[in-house]
Amino acid sequence: MSAELKAPRGTHDVLPDDAARRDAVEEAARRILGAAGYRRIETPAFEATELFARGVGASTDIVQKEMYTFEDGSGRSLTLRPEGTAPVCRAYVEHGMQKLPQPVKLWYLSSFFRYERAQAGRQRQFWQVGTEAIGSADPALDAESIVLLAELLDALGVRELRLRLSSLGTLETRAAYRQELQAYLHAHADRLSDEVRGRIETNPLRAFDADHPGTREAMAGAPLLLDRLTGEDAEHFAAVRALLDGAGLVYEVDATLVRGLDYYMRTVFEFTSDALGAQSGVGGGGRYDGLVEQLGGPATPGVGWAAGIERMLLAADAHAVAAPIVDLFVAYAREQDRAAGFQIAHEARRAGLGAQLELAGRSLKGQLKQADRIGARFVAILGEEGATVKDMESGEQHVVELGGVVHQVLRARRLS
Ligand code: HAM
Repeated sequence: MSAELKAPRGTHDVLPDDAARRDAVEEAARRILGAAGYRRIETPAFEATELFARGVGASTDIVQKEMYTFEDGSGRSLTLRPEGTAPVCRAYVEHGMQKLPQPVKLWYLSSFFRYERAQAGRQRQFWQVGTEAIGSADPALDAESIVLLAELLDALGVRELRLRLSSLGTLETRAAYRQELQAYLHAHADRLSDEVRGRIETNPLRAFDADHPGTREAMAGAPLLLDRLTGEDAEHFAAVRALLDGAGLVYEVDATLVRGLDYYMRTVFEFTSDALGAQSGVGGGGRYDGLVEQLGGPATPGVGWAAGIERMLLAADAHAVAAPIVDLFVAYAREQDRAAGFQIAHEARRAGLGAQLELAGRSLKGQLKQADRIGARFVAILGEEGATVKDMESGEQHVVELGGVVHQVLRARRLS
């Protein structure tokens, strides 16, 4: 196949075995989140570009260089969603969900798009399962959110997990701290990387994230936001921690935790897996009490997280994937038995059995091999005298009329 026709760089096909593992993620999410009162929401794959510029933050990497933005036929600027929080908050406002009992707890499992350098665990189209709980500032909601993500990762067998936790305080605390940090960065500018120095005005917090040795050394002495939290913010953080401690969750307070989105305030957290390479972030989130208002809604607090499906599966124990159950494989040697075989398979499925008909023109021997390969429990071989129904486990077989095949399989299954 020519290179141009292959799936674009940074995207991948979800093949049947992968799809089966994803189904397991979806089932676990539905069970665990559903039990805590979360209900599914799905928003469109594209939104007005402005939603992300305002919601995610104009100075973030996502908005500055990672969005797939295009004009539609009417000249409107649209963007393939790079994340789910801004769209869910948009939907919350648009559908008047503030009138519902609060908090409104929502979850999603959708694909997202970021123009990033593609590598293992980092795609340009990727999938996230995420939650948003909107309408309560209670620290118990932060803790519940985190505990639910921990439970999901545990249920999926994600290995070598670490949880980092921090608090960003409120916008005011952050603004004052930002100035303090900028002053510090200016004073140590000669030791910083060009990239970090270039971002002192736009995104000083990213300096904590740098790999550059000089920058890392300089940052070791930098002031920490966590040490600047004021009364209520500090109380909120202490309450979240106490609830997590009570739940027995192990975490590390990391004052340098930086998230790539601007809407966070107070609690932020991230799960990483040492089983992954450079892209070790499995899932993360935090509180975003100003976001709904920023998008034109009433002042409304919220907290949530998202976890990457590909990364969770990469870091999870590879469970054996269940193949579809085949109760009956319908085989035939003569072309004229094909229509009867079609009817039998159809009737069997209507009776609740997993049933497949030979569809590739194999020899009878080849058909029996195929039945064995797909793990069929019974094979019906159609012929002149009706059908021979063979139990592939016991080897037992019975000759029945064509109209009696389904009945025979149901009976034999009941008896076994
Ligand atoms: P995020 O940290 O940007 O947060 O993404 C969450 C997770 O999505 C990451 O931890 C990672 O597993 C996965 N992910 C992100 N980018 C990629 C990529 N290019 N390829 C593969 N996986 C990726 C958010 O998106 C926030 N909306 C989370 C949130 C919800 N905060 C509050 N509510």
